[in-house]
Amino acid sequence: EKGGYEHFMLKEIHEQPRSIQDCFRGRLNAKDGWVQLGGIKDHIEKIGKAKRIIFVACGTSWHAALVGEYLFEDLARIPVEVEYASEFRYRNPIIGEDDIVIAISQSGETADTLAALDIAKKKGATTLGICNVVGSSISRVTDAGSYTHAGPEIGVASTKAFTAQVTVLTLMALSIAKERATMSESQFRTILTELEQIPNKVSKVLEQNDLIEHISDVYQNANNALYLGRGSSFPVALEGALKLKEISYIHAEGYPAAEMKHGPIALIDEEMPVFVIATQGTSYEKVVSNIQEVKARKGKIIAIVTEGDTQVKAMADHVIEIPDTDENLVPLLATIPLQLLSYHVAVMRGCNVDQPRNLAKSVTVE
Ligand code: M6R
Repeated sequence: EKGGYEHFMLKEIHEQPRSIQDCFRGRLNAKDGWVQLGGIKDHIEKIGKAKRIIFVACGTSWHAALVGEYLFEDLARIPVEVEYASEFRYRNPIIGEDDIVIAISQSGETADTLAALDIAKKKGATTLGICNVVGSSISRVTDAGSYTHAGPEIGVASTKAFTAQVTVLTLMALSIAKERATMSESQFRTILTELEQIPNKVSKVLEQNDLIEHISDVYQNANNALYLGRGSSFPVALEGALKLKEISYIHAEGYPAAEMKHGPIALIDEEMPVFVIATQGTSYEKVVSNIQEVKARKGKIIAIVTEGDTQVKAMADHVIEIPDTDENLVPLLATIPLQLLSYHVAVMRGCNVDQPRNLAKSVTVE
């Protein structure tokens, strides 16, 4: 059942080229230039007119929502708020009929996310779901939605469900962009073409497994780790840190790279591994400066860079290369090495990878 892999988590990490492809199936065609999410088709006009979109989710799904915020705002030019379901439900949120509330949940059974939806519905909002488990509670109570089609995820640490959520969010952002005419045709087609290449590029990232295993060996005894990224790579940093905490029990924090100097920089010394997403794009030079700040304090840099990078390579202790892609799609690639790294560290530390202590696959109590 583990398909020859030692753990479900490793199997699920390796399934990602396939699960992302499954998520695309029948939903996009780069050659003909279209995207369609059948599940939300009937609501697309209303979504396009919405004053804002609110995402509610927990854990990894909340990180996917943060990536969604960048995608929706950049591509569809619609204001987005991202809320922890557990906080949203206990506030007195200002929601009305013009709002669209999107719940993201792998299991579709998370108690806090269900409760947040209930409030949104009572206040008259249109509710959508992005779930993996077909027929789950969240998929049933929402007005409409799109499944991630990642297939069953058994490992408690979410991996392929996350990349599938980000894929659906990308398709949704593109559908809304089309409805609102916020992208030029050439921009639209370029991103579709790039998106279609993501499964192959994920496979290329997975080929770096041996290098990632070596890096994991070097840092397996760390007591702390910092993860940094900017833009939509900031949620990738949060997700990388969560993976490490969950399965290897190493304390890790994700931060927007520029926030480091407002506090966490005090923690940096030669014992501190700092994982940085430093791919080509608008904030590359800024991230380079952040790396210099870490190096000046003797921190260890493990950087995820774009293939062919030279500048970061010259400064970092280790680099992991990922293929070049559209800036909006970087999270789909940059997440993969961080998943593998957490996996190997956890195995090296003798942890129960698929069923980490104190955690359950779906959190059906608040
Ligand atoms: O099933 P959901 O996506 O609603 O679950 C939300 C979180 O409980 C979940 O993502 C959790 O953080 C994972 N263990 C992360 O790997």
